[in-house]
Order: sequence, then structure tokens, then C-alpha cells
Amino acid sequence: MIIILVGAPGSGKGTVAERIQNKYEFPIVSSGEILRNEMKQETAIGKQVLSYVSSGKLVPDRIITALIKQKISKHQHKCSVVLDGYPRNLNQSLALEDMTQTKQRVFYLDVPKDILKERLINRGRTDDTEKVIEQRFEVFLNETRPILDYYKRRDTLVRISGTSSDEIFRKIDALLSK
Ligand code: AP5
Ligand code: MG
Repeated sequence: MIIILVGAPGSGKGTVAERIQNKYEFPIVSSGEILRNEMKQETAIGKQVLSYVSSGKLVPDRIITALIKQKISKHQHKCSVVLDGYPRNLNQSLALEDMTQTKQRVFYLDVPKDILKERLINRGRTDDTEKVIEQRFEVFLNETRPILDYYKRRDTLVRISGTSSDEIFRKIDALLSK
């Protein structure tokens, strides 16, 4: 099974992925972490993606898809994987289906925007400035939100609303342990 966490910036994708990993021991594949790692190590890919990540735009699909494919294939022997931050547009959703035919469950972490902004400002990652946060929200609305309709039609989407990651994890946990 592939557990896909979709949500606006700051909705807790990373936090909830860790909670799932702690309980179920499923490996996490996080697109943001992979990209930050490439940038930190100043690899060729890291250099290519820097301007996108630091301005809050999506990096080109072919770059992120190749990176995700590589990671997922490493975990093929595991029963489940948690995906944090991928797919983020329809093209990536289709690419993921090409990559693996494993059953998908999509959880949309729905958290009020005012809470999100406050969390990000307090965290202070280099892309957590007011201007870049706004850009990341825009990208979420315009490019990522459409995949929610796509998964809804395929009956794989569950909307999880809440304000604390405790509450959100509890709801997801209840569904996973069924
Ligand atoms: P990415 O790293 O995925 O950033 P994001 O989607 O903006 O999400 P965040 O990591 O900021 O938030 P989160 O939902 O993981 O929440 P978290 O648990 O961290 O992507 C960064 C960039 O990489 C993108 O802008 C893009 O350029 C590129 N990229 C990534 N994926 C891509 C893709 N597929 N295609 C193309 N480009 C891609 O929580 C946030 C903060 O809130 C933390 O400080 C946390 O401690 C705190 N917090 C969480 N839950 C709670 C709570 N309940 N109460 C209080 N604080 C909380
Ligand atoms: Mg994250």
C-alpha cells in the first residue's frame, strides 16, 4: 500500500508521516526532504532545484519524479510506504501510477489557513518567509488541489480535518488499523 499525504504547506504532512512511521514502521518518502538533502549536499540536482524551492514553486516534474521513483524502488520489498509531498499535481499522480501498481490511500490533511501560516512562520525554514509561504499556498491551490478531485473520483481520498496533529493522526490511525 502507498499512503499519500496531501495538504497545504504546514498542514502536518511531515509530522503525521513520522507518527505513522513510529507506529507501523512504514518508511517515509518525503519529496521536500529529498530536495533539501540534494541542495545541502550541493549536488547537480540540488543546484538545479534551488531557485524553485527557495521561491516556493514546484520543481520540474521530471526531476522530482525520477528522485521519487528511485526511493520507492528501494522500498519495494516493504509492505507499505508513506509519501509526504508527492504527488503535487495531476501529472505526478499519473507518473506515480506508472511507477507502481500498489494500492493507494490518499489522506487530505485539511487545516485552517490561519493556523498554517503561524506554524510556518514559527518554524523558520529558509522557505518559511511570508512571501514564499504565500507562493507555496498559491501553488497548493492552483496545482495540487485539482488532484483531490481526481482521487475523490477514484474513491481513494479521505479528507481528514483537524487542528492538531494528534487529532489528525488519531483519525488516520483508526482507518489504517481497520
Ligand atoms: P515541502 O517540504 O513538501 O513543503 P510544504 O508542502 O510547503 O510543507 P511543509 O513541509 O512546510 O509542511 P508539512 O505539511 O510537512 O507540515 P510539517 O509537519 O512540517 O516542499 C518544499 C518545496 O519543495 C516546495 O515548495 C517545492 O519547491 C518543492 N517540492 C516538494 N515536493 C515537490 C513535488 N512533488 N513536486 C515539485 N516540487 C516539490 O509542520 C509544519 C510546522 O508546523 C512544523 O514546525 C511542525 O512542528 C508544526 N506543526 C505541525 N503540526 C502541528 C500541530 N498540530 N500543532 C502545532 N504545530 C504543528
Ligand atoms: Mg514537510
